[in-house]
Amino acid sequence: MQVFYESDADPALIRAKRVAVIGYGAQGHAHALNLRDAGVDVRVALHAAARRAGQARDDGFTPISVVEAAQSSDVLVMCAPDEVMPDLYAAEIAPHLRAGQTLMFVHGFALHYGFIKPPAYVDVVMVAPKGPGKALREAFVKSGGLPCIVAVAQDNGGGEALAYSYAAAIGCGRAGMIASTFKLETEGDLYGEQAVLCGGLTHLIRAAWEVQVEAGAPPELAYFDCLHEVKLLSDLIHERGIAGMHLAISNTAEYGEYVTGPRIIDARVKEVMRAVMADVQSGKFARAWMEEYRNGAPNLARTRAAAASHPIEAAGEKVRALLKSATVNN
Ligand SMILES: NC(=O)c1ccc[n+]([C@@H]2O[C@H](COP(=O)([O-])OP(=O)(O)OC[C@H]3O[C@@H](n4cnc5c(N)ncnc54)[C@H](OP(=O)(O)O)[C@@H]3O)[C@@H](O)[C@H]2O)c1
Repeated sequence: MQVFYESDADPALIRAKRVAVIGYGAQGHAHALNLRDAGVDVRVALHAAARRAGQARDDGFTPISVVEAAQSSDVLVMCAPDEVMPDLYAAEIAPHLRAGQTLMFVHGFALHYGFIKPPAYVDVVMVAPKGPGKALREAFVKSGGLPCIVAVAQDNGGGEALAYSYAAAIGCGRAGMIASTFKLETEGDLYGEQAVLCGGLTHLIRAAWEVQVEAGAPPELAYFDCLHEVKLLSDLIHERGIAGMHLAISNTAEYGEYVTGPRIIDARVKEVMRAVMADVQSGKFARAWMEEYRNGAPNLARTRAAAASHPIEAAGEKVRALLKSATVNN
């Protein structure tokens, strides 16, 4: 793994450019604020009905249209949702692109799977912070930063150096700028969120909670056992790794892990993980998601509603209220 730091980047490169951040959501707001604080000429571009327009104004930006940004900026930072980007690009960005401009992605989905095909005369790079926008902003404000992935898809001369200059400006040079590719970033991000972070974890928690409640436990107590304590363990793993976490748990818990872990995550689960990876790598998942989005995302809406009405949520509300009042009273 090749890692670069602040001292490897030239801060003047991005300061010499006119940058437009398209979208002011989780990532966009952090990029725009960090860039401005780093002395970069940055504007925010939004659609007419943007929910976050007020927030952008409160933060001192005057939102412009995406067309205006494409016409008048050197660097276009793509911080609209992945599924929105292809149509947005085709309608409002592509017709205005000219040589010398840079398309900057913060995640590779739309480019890697070919939903956006930029002309050869623009540079195409990615700076993908390894964490949510909130963390990117909070770290920057404390004079720190998040690590990021830097990738270059098209470079007409200067694109790569500009990407590192940008990454350093948003604070990532303080933590480490990892050289990678659009393919590795996109596939790794999707696979990790599906197998572990979002898909695997939530379904593991819900299934374990359901079984514990079926076995007679009060829903709130099962919530403590199967969900609430996930944070304590994941914090330990985050800080020390899995082997380091073992030093902080009881021998009973550790023995249980070794006996039961392989029964839960067995060969069949690993086979499914391989199939998930294959769908990510072949683009099958990406095509299905774009089709779902273009059909109005009915399955997303239905599944989201079902997840929100799962009884674990009611149990969670009670537990969190209890913990909140405990914090207030102590
Ligand atoms: N969430 C994260 O922390 C995270 C982490 C790593 C990478 N990423 C990547 O960051 C990118 C942006 O994701 P996000 O999570 O930040 O999205 P988000 O929170 O949903 O914010 C998207 C922003 O784009 C705006 N937008 C929507 N349609 C638009 C259009 N047609 N024209 C202009 N602006 C439009 C939205 O407007 P409204 O104000 O109306 O909503 C919102 O301000 C994606 O590539 C994602 O994969 C996100």
